[in-house]
Amino acid sequence: MVGEPLGRLGEHCDLRKALIVTDRNVRTLFGDRFPPCTIVEVEPGEAHKTLETVGNIYDEFLRLELDRSSFVVGIGGGLVCDVAGFAASTYLRGLSFGFVPTTLLAQVDASVGGKNGVNFHGYKNLIGTFNQPSFVICDLEMIGTLPLEDVRNGMAEIVKHALIGNSGLFSYLEQNKERLLSLESGPMEKVVYESLLIKARIVSRDETERGERRKLNLGHTFGHAVEKHTGMPHGEAVSIGMVVAARLSTMRGTLKDKEAERVMTLLSDLGLPTRFTGDKHAILDGVRKDKKREDQVIHMALLGGIGHAIIEPVAIEELEEVFDDLR
Ligand SMILES: NC(=O)c1ccc[n+]([C@@H]2O[C@H](COP(=O)([O-])OP(=O)(O)OC[C@H]3O[C@@H](n4cnc5c(N)ncnc54)[C@H](O)[C@@H]3O)[C@@H](O)[C@H]2O)c1
Repeated sequence: MVGEPLGRLGEHCDLRKALIVTDRNVRTLFGDRFPPCTIVEVEPGEAHKTLETVGNIYDEFLRLELDRSSFVVGIGGGLVCDVAGFAASTYLRGLSFGFVPTTLLAQVDASVGGKNGVNFHGYKNLIGTFNQPSFVICDLEMIGTLPLEDVRNGMAEIVKHALIGNSGLFSYLEQNKERLLSLESGPMEKVVYESLLIKARIVSRDETERGERRKLNLGHTFGHAVEKHTGMPHGEAVSIGMVVAARLSTMRGTLKDKEAERVMTLLSDLGLPTRFTGDKHAILDGVRKDKKREDQVIHMALLGGIGHAIIEPVAIEELEEVFDDLR
């Protein structure tokens, strides 16, 4: 529900049965607007996206005597959605849950699609479930407090969705980038909604990522390795990953040079990086080892045009060639 305010949460679940999971920062910012429910607070930061945090949430669920009629509401960024969704999905073999995502990235990506999970031994999202929330409420007022870096992180995912499935959205982003970066409400509502339509359409056809859902990994195969190796913000790493995908696509003749230029220009106008000078061998090793994958060929989302993603096998050597081009 894009544009639905947090204040209407009670219309979508029984607040007498609801428990809120949030993080410390979000509670400080918005706690006075939360409905009068019990709150379980987790520590902010990716380092806390662990089974230990989930264990602490279970402890609270147990102490508060939650039963199968209880309802869990995650209010926060992607971390809160991921851990709250995972804890709810596994406690008592599954409690119902809903999300009020408070970062742009969580609104356009993390809260929708039913992937819930945590990191394990340094591997991102290695432990998790596929389980859909009962609702996702995107209150656009709540993203007004985000630092610019987090706005850009979310924008990278919106560009990704446009590239995968909607060339009209891509053109709209090109024409409205300043209004979007300043979070103007009309354009934001349009791009969040259209971005979610693309994700929801793909997820409803392939919920458990056997095929088409892999398109949503556009920019992420390479991006995750860059993020892990450099500590660069997620959106920036995905931006570089999308440039890699665009270049590979032009090399294979599925994307025109002019279209790849448009991708680079939009990303750079949104303040996202399009060049990278990091350690080639470490990054390629990271791509190879992502989620313990040891194959020499990886299946990557590439572009068959703006608004049209395709899944293609790519050899690590091809990535090496593109890497040299990124400098
Ligand atoms: N499940 C999925 O499909 C999926 C998809 C994409 C990303 N993710 C996950 O999402 C996580 C990243 O999400 P994120 O970028 O939202 O990070 P995050 O949840 O760590 O939030 C980033 C920071 O912003 C703060 N914050 C939250 N809302 C705020 C607001 N309105 N104003 C100011 N500060 C606010 C948080 O407290 C935190 O410090 C990663 O763990 C990633 O793996 C999951």
